[in-house]
Amino acid sequence: MTWFASAPANIALIKYMGKSANNNVLSHPNNTRNTPTNPSLSYTLNHLQSFVELEHSSTSCDQWQPLPGHTPLALNEQEQTRFLSHLSFIKKQFHYSACFYVRSSNNFPASCGLASSASSFAALTRCAVQAICEQQNRPLPSIQDLSALSRQGSGSSCRSFFEPFALWQQDYAEALPLPYPSLRHMTVIVSQAQKKVSSSQAHQAVFTSLQFENRPQRAQTRLTQLIHALQQQDWFRAYQLTWQEFWDMHALFETATPPFGYFLPGTMMALHLLREYWHIHQDGPLVTMDAGPNIHLLFRPEQQTVYQEIADTLSPHFQLFTPHI
Ligand code: DP6
Repeated sequence: MTWFASAPANIALIKYMGKSANNNVLSHPNNTRNTPTNPSLSYTLNHLQSFVELEHSSTSCDQWQPLPGHTPLALNEQEQTRFLSHLSFIKKQFHYSACFYVRSSNNFPASCGLASSASSFAALTRCAVQAICEQQNRPLPSIQDLSALSRQGSGSSCRSFFEPFALWQQDYAEALPLPYPSLRHMTVIVSQAQKKVSSSQAHQAVFTSLQFENRPQRAQTRLTQLIHALQQQDWFRAYQLTWQEFWDMHALFETATPPFGYFLPGTMMALHLLREYWHIHQDGPLVTMDAGPNIHLLFRPEQQTVYQEIADTLSPHFQLFTPHI
């Protein structure tokens, strides 16, 4: 028997960075419960999907394989272990012991500067719960419960169950209705190199920054302000707040002991061009960055000229990843 599920990626506008001290729960194989120190808000990227197929196996342990017929995906050993340990965590929750072949892939290349952990852990959670509940003849848990389970595999994945915006405060995320149902996404690819510090490592390291002390309060205040700006359709204010937010997170990295960072010279160049564009036109995209050197842009659908001009400005220097050009 086989089961199949998919889930989208998401991009955070208010960032999840830092995990609460109660993360060490022994029931989880990785001891990471991923309870955040501050709430986060994301936009769901429906065109970027992960797919997971589970098939019963008579082997003595779960095994990962790439999903045939999709964009080839190569998970290294560490990534496979992390993915499979989330499956064992879910199995444990349901007192389920049989094994699966776990096949997964994304419809976006691993090198396009987008993290796939959110979409892939959400798809795995969905697929595993579906497979187990069907066999145990029990009803599917609520979407909040799915989100809470997924969070324990990778925090940001709990937001991938909701759209267009997802708000994650504590155990699970929820949909937040805001007046921008269909934004256009573009990634400015500055580097495709594997990052030296993973986002999971960054979550630990930020505690060593003196600036972390007031970070939860700053994120909370900015979240309230951003929700208000989006509700009022004040795009310029939303741009200012999302800009401040990613700089705040990256400042934590650079002020950690020892400091680390993701910015490359190209990142600075692209940010400079984007800031200049906003300055000249008093208009532009929302700009954000995750724990990496690449830049994410979100445009309103009616910003067609802005979208084209930004693409023309950036494309001589950078590869752009977008479903539209
Ligand atoms: C910078 O969800 O990848 O993208 O819970 O350890 O899997 P784990 O971390 P992860 O962290 C994402 C960090 C971020 C910001 C965000 O998506 O909110």
